[in-house]
Amino acid sequence: MTSSKIDESAYLRWLLKYNPFIHLSSESLKSVGNFHVWTETDRSFWNAVESFLKSKKKKLIFLIGEFGSGKTHRLRLLYETLEEVPCIYIKVDSQDSRDVIRGIEAALHSLEIIPARHLKKVILSLAGKKEDGYSSDPKIAAEKAASMMNNRGEAILLMDEIENVILNNSEEDVRAFTKYLLSLYNALSDGKMIVIACIPKAYESIKHLLSNLNPPPTVIKVKKITDEEAKEIIDRRLKQVFELKREGSVFENYFISKETIAELNRLSRGNPRKLMQIFRNILLTASTLDDREVKRALQVLSGIKKDIKEKKTPSKYGKYLRKIKARIGERKFFSLIEAAEATGLSLVNVKSILDELKARNLIIKRGVRYYFTESALKLVELAE
Ligand SMILES: Nc1ncnc2c1ncn2[C@@H]1O[C@H](COP(=O)(O)OP(=O)(O)OP(=O)(O)O)[C@@H](O)[C@H]1O
Ligand SMILES: [Mg+2]
Repeated sequence: MTSSKIDESAYLRWLLKYNPFIHLSSESLKSVGNFHVWTETDRSFWNAVESFLKSKKKKLIFLIGEFGSGKTHRLRLLYETLEEVPCIYIKVDSQDSRDVIRGIEAALHSLEIIPARHLKKVILSLAGKKEDGYSSDPKIAAEKAASMMNNRGEAILLMDEIENVILNNSEEDVRAFTKYLLSLYNALSDGKMIVIACIPKAYESIKHLLSNLNPPPTVIKVKKITDEEAKEIIDRRLKQVFELKREGSVFENYFISKETIAELNRLSRGNPRKLMQIFRNILLTASTLDDREVKRALQVLSGIKKDIKEKKTPSKYGKYLRKIKARIGERKFFSLIEAAEATGLSLVNVKSILDELKARNLIIKRGVRYYFTESALKLVELAE
């Protein structure tokens, strides 16, 4: 994930209710429906879901995508949207296959104890939800889990981040877990669906162990977002906090050309989370959101990115910023005197350096205080 050292104060000048790009993980959003942009991946995913809902034939879907590509977002959209079928969402946050299998059992237990009318969704993080009585044989545990699901006419089990129990794990654990998945699915009756989300590397490393799945799974690969989708994702987020084009607002001139969006999406490599990270930095560094300013901010940011990639020696600005940061620690602002002390420069000289930093959008000044911008913090990291 991104650095948490974000200078929130830089948002104040936009007069926003809150920073629309603060939630870069879909887990932290209240609901994903308002933000969701329909993509080609969604068409394939929902086709598979609908074919299950229509036929009620048991189904297994693998949703495979890189970090930040929108896997959790889509699982959430599914359980927020489906009214009629109980959905159990499990985030696999343990590496130990036994913990995971126990956790799934604990979650499925809710199918037995919660009356159907209340059981819309159950969200379970595995941590701290362990139960005794897990059989050491994954097949037996899986059959028990399947029978809990089979006691219901319909049920959907969503498993997120299974890479945690697959990658960097012992071969024994990986085998135990895949045996569990295989046995669970094969023992399910119609009316049940499992959706498993993970990164491509995890799927690739277990798919040869899953050849006996019956019927075979539907594999959906999360595609890179297109430029149009990237634009829509940004617009949706911005619209949460201000009325686009409202007269007199700082966003009145909001306009991003096709070329700028293409550049933005190229830098994000079609990844929604990266896209929002970059746009968050643009909000911190651009003075308005018209095309020229956004383009300029992008150039600054991609310049910083290039620096990091090429491991260039940090500029003199990076050195000054680092010295100041070392002087003030985690504090977000500093004074002129502190800057002079930290850099060993005279007040006059340090003032002109600060003016240069300001012109490069590395710091902003409010009253007598100077604040680091996100780009400055990146440069400091680089200098370190
Ligand atoms: N189609 C979309 N429309 C709108 N926002 C999206 C879309 N896809 C992803 N996002 C947003 O992108 C961000 C990253 O998505 P998400 O957290 O679901 O990724 P992930 O694949 O689960 O990542 P990780 O593997 O790190 O858990 C979230 O803020 C999410 O809301
Ligand atoms: Mg996720």
